[in-house]
Amino acid sequence: MALVIFPFKEEEPEVLLRNVEVALDHPRVSEVLCVGASEDRCFDATSAEAPKLTKSYGKPVKVMVQERIGGLRPGKGDGMNTALKYLLEETDHERIHFYDADIVSFSEEWITKAEEAADEGYQVVRHYFPRSSTDAMITWMITRTGFALLWPRSVLPWIEQPLGGELLLTRGAAEELFSDPRVRRQSDWGIDTLYTFSMVAHGLSISEIYIDVGKLHKLYGALTDLKAMLIECFSALQSLKDEPVPEGTKHCIEYPGPVRQEMKEKVGYDLERSLQLLRTGWSDRQAELLELFPRPVREGMLACREYPRFSFMDEDTWAEVYSVLLDHFDPGDDDWRELLFKLWLTRVLQYTTTVALRGYDYAMHYLHRMVARYVHRSLTGSSAA
Ligand code: DGY
Repeated sequence: MALVIFPFKEEEPEVLLRNVEVALDHPRVSEVLCVGASEDRCFDATSAEAPKLTKSYGKPVKVMVQERIGGLRPGKGDGMNTALKYLLEETDHERIHFYDADIVSFSEEWITKAEEAADEGYQVVRHYFPRSSTDAMITWMITRTGFALLWPRSVLPWIEQPLGGELLLTRGAAEELFSDPRVRRQSDWGIDTLYTFSMVAHGLSISEIYIDVGKLHKLYGALTDLKAMLIECFSALQSLKDEPVPEGTKHCIEYPGPVRQEMKEKVGYDLERSLQLLRTGWSDRQAELLELFPRPVREGMLACREYPRFSFMDEDTWAEVYSVLLDHFDPGDDDWRELLFKLWLTRVLQYTTTVALRGYDYAMHYLHRMVARYVHRSLTGSSAA
């Protein structure tokens, strides 16, 4: 039987409570735990309902505030790790499911498909779903790129949504992850990177299941909304760069279905407001740090102080920039943080205007081929056609 977790922070209580009921209704689920970042309005509303739900479904519903487990900014990582600790120390459930609390399209299918893949013997099941071609820009430009460049022989580059927060772990897999000090330390947005990394590093078998309705969560305004997440996801990856990962672990991906027109037409972020960000927040020190980068990058970035430029940041240039960042980026340094953000912004804008503009199917094919080319580059030292 399974424990279902909803980590949350300032969510709409109605959405979370509806999702809790969907989980309670499922025959495989025997307990639901909501882990809040703090005692916010959602925490109070959910705590007030929990005893009634426990009574009407005859299954425990608990609400708790996340513990301080890690060593970085207290965030989603502490929430997810609090749930693993609860599973291992307070219960004997055989499986744990994680779902983001804000999914408005959550249904019993999410649980059933995950349970079925676990019944087949997989130790980890990851949900994936269609996303707009200009969404997931940290996933593609930071995480999948980094996994391809750093661990090209492992399954890491091929994991569809390595930052996804919807997954199932068997109790054994949860034990492996929670006993990994790198995972426990990662209290911030880097947690998804760490879970993905650690499951592959420990050789766990992974099944990725496709949920065609997707998450239908709201998209972003200017890309500044993603700044903290970007920095924490890159730092997490950088902290792992010298760690070994085995080759050839068991991994299967369910073939995706047709994507709805609405998703294909969705624009992931506000282009005009994001362009503006390239001109602001410069310091002399950032200009000095640019000395570490290849000349076209240095010149292009400095020109951004006058007028937004980004056409220089193509796929190969980004790989060079990425390796400089891996060697030199300092997450504790504000100038480095700002520079990483701006460099990533130029990559996202270059991709948006030369690739995403050509349509959804072209863009998704490009992004998958891009990862394959980075794998090739890392294995052979040369770019693939
Ligand atoms: C990602 O890149 O996957 C983040 O969720 C932002 O979209």
